[in-house]
Amino acid sequence: MGEFSSRVERISISGIREVFEAAGEDAINLGLGQPDFPTPEHARAAAVDAIESGATDAYTSNKGTKSLREAIAAKHERDNAFAVDPADVIATAGGSEALHIAIEAHVDAGEEVIIPDPGFVSYEALTHLAGGDPKPVGLRADLTLSPAAVEEAITDDTAMFVVNSPANPTGAVQSEADMREFARIADEYDVCCLSDEVYEPFVFEGRHHSPADFADTDSVVVVNAASKAYSMTGWRLGWVTGSHERIERMLRVHQYVQACASAPAQYAAEGALRGPQDCVAEMKAAFKQRRDVLLDGLESMGLDVPTPAGAFYAMPRVPEGWTDAVIDRGVVVVPGEAFGDGGAGHARISYATDVETLKEAIGVMREATAAVR
Ligand SMILES: Cc1ncc(COP(=O)(O)O)c(C=O)c1O
Repeated sequence: MGEFSSRVERISISGIREVFEAAGEDAINLGLGQPDFPTPEHARAAAVDAIESGATDAYTSNKGTKSLREAIAAKHERDNAFAVDPADVIATAGGSEALHIAIEAHVDAGEEVIIPDPGFVSYEALTHLAGGDPKPVGLRADLTLSPAAVEEAITDDTAMFVVNSPANPTGAVQSEADMREFARIADEYDVCCLSDEVYEPFVFEGRHHSPADFADTDSVVVVNAASKAYSMTGWRLGWVTGSHERIERMLRVHQYVQACASAPAQYAAEGALRGPQDCVAEMKAAFKQRRDVLLDGLESMGLDVPTPAGAFYAMPRVPEGWTDAVIDRGVVVVPGEAFGDGGAGHARISYATDVETLKEAIGVMREATAAVR
């Protein structure tokens, strides 16, 4: 067998999968990164109608249907302080592909990408695939990313920095002041800020801000998706938006790796975006309630947990051996180091599960905590 590319040899299968495989069949899985709700009926119906009418039998335009891109622009108009031209949107195979084409289009071999540590696993891997060098930056004690730390990490070789709020794996939400700073840094250093906003609707305290709200130039590229917001992870529909120039470069990558996002998923996402939004509010309320249950539980066992203000993850600081002790007792949580060296000494707990199951899992965590203390 021939040699493989050095780029692909630099990445490996995510550590999260290994944890799932190690857990028994009856385990309570608090390792999952997806909402436990059904996709809204109106989103499913939009896909079914489109399939039955034959509208999904052919390629769509590379960027996605005009009507979906208009719905995405309308969503940004409704929820965000930045405007989006439907021509400057590419519908992608989930937020994952959006991150991929953004990094491919902006990062040259040997250039640096500043990423949060701990942070979502794709940032490091996609940087390697582009031939770039990930530059992990540790987080503040509250698990938010410090703009000052990003600014300090910038060198002549920096192509991009990644901001993710609300964040996976921490549940942390960046303040408006931080987002203003990220925008200033991107503008001032002429470095692209990749803002991953896939957990946007799930902010429990305050509200979501994007660096794109504050940038004076076209320095910010925004990634979003239907995956988490509408519990549509299986549909694979995300998008990326940015200036004409940036979109045109990202489209070159998208055109060759994907041609277009799956047509049924495009119709489903359009249905989700244009339909009633109560489903999103209901999920948010459920996540907030579960977060409070989990926080109470973890704090009552004496664990230190920075209060996660968004998404559906908590990241307590845990004693040595805790994660294994919890997994051995039948509850899957993910060791913090799966998200970077900065995650060591933490565990990621996803609370995308019902309150009763969560309470059962908290009981198990309590036993494990007592056992390793
Ligand atoms: C922070 C973050 N960004 C992007 C994604 C990709 O989401 P998807 O490709 O399912 O839309 C995920 C998925 O877990 C994530 O946690």
